[in-house]
Amino acid sequence: MSLTRAAITSVGRFLPKRILTNKDLEGIIDTSDEWIVQRTGIRSRHCLEPGLGNSYMASRAAKDCLKRVGVLPSEIDTIIVGTISPDMFFPSTACLVQKMIRANNAWGFDLSAGCSGFLFALTTGTMFIESGRYKKVLVIGSDVNTIYLTPEDRSTYVLFGDGAGAVLLEPSVDPDLGIIDFEKRIDGVGEPYLQVKGGGSRRPATLETVKNNEHFVYQDGKTVFKYAVKNMADVAVAMMERNNLQNSDLDLFVPHQANLRIIEACAKRMDLDISKVIINIDKYANTTCGTIPLCLYDAVDQGRLKKGDRVIIASFGAGFSWGGVYLRWAMNST
Ligand code: COA
Repeated sequence: MSLTRAAITSVGRFLPKRILTNKDLEGIIDTSDEWIVQRTGIRSRHCLEPGLGNSYMASRAAKDCLKRVGVLPSEIDTIIVGTISPDMFFPSTACLVQKMIRANNAWGFDLSAGCSGFLFALTTGTMFIESGRYKKVLVIGSDVNTIYLTPEDRSTYVLFGDGAGAVLLEPSVDPDLGIIDFEKRIDGVGEPYLQVKGGGSRRPATLETVKNNEHFVYQDGKTVFKYAVKNMADVAVAMMERNNLQNSDLDLFVPHQANLRIIEACAKRMDLDISKVIINIDKYANTTCGTIPLCLYDAVDQGRLKKGDRVIIASFGAGFSWGGVYLRWAMNST
């Protein structure tokens, strides 16, 4: 029996209205537009109004995604939300999204894998479609990162933004198109280098954890940088080798947007011209689980993806967690 392939059949997004430029940050911390652009490639980021929560963005990205392809929320059977910033520990953000978009026949869950949450959710949804049991899986990557940042840590403060993207996965009509291959990895060696220490079961919230800034992102930027370049490049190259792809065969590389220098180093390892890489970190900064679906959205919007295109996606995040996907684009150009 031949395998049912999963294909992305729609993309959607939500970005909060409020934009903070590097110049705006100059008024909050000791930094400069020049330093941020040179070290990261970031120029601005979107910022969610306090109190709204992740489900506000995730549900809007989901609605946008379904509207574009004319699928009703009631047709969705599975909702997977890749996120590191759920509205609360429980219920899951997927439950809140289900209610907000009225996906009355869906089940679903949140998937936590640092910045790899969307890629892990995408490949999990792919296996659900391949199994033949599910037909319409909504995969969302959504994060409100700006609430986890303290101006006391200027090197981390400038890196992140808020945003959400969503894709719809369905059985591919053309068996040659859709998600062809993927690999996912985790290594707990990353725990001390990138974390939010407080608020979980080991360090529940106390006056002391608040005083010690344990509810904000902590990262050892240099160590994370090295692991990110190595693992993202390794997995992207592995995807190329396993699928007999030369760099000239590849139409688009979609890397997690953590730092422009990491993206450029990956492209170099792949021997890939930078014109084949989608980059939007300048506009949105690192939206963690939002980066990859926001890149796919922009690629579609800018006419950079056409049916049959060969695409590699690569991610890296806390954990450490990383992964790669090889797909052939299945959507018609708009
Ligand atoms: N503005 C101005 N100066 C800053 C600054 C800021 N926002 N943040 C740090 N600096 C200063 C430092 O204090 C240091 O000054 P010093 O040399 O006088 O001590 C100098 O800039 C260099 O800092 P350093 O930390 O060595 O910079 P870097 O080149 O390593 O860049 C990061 C820092 C965070 C941008 C970089 O390490 C990085 O992007 N790491 C990966 C992060 C990541 O991808 N995380 C998510 C993974 S999913």
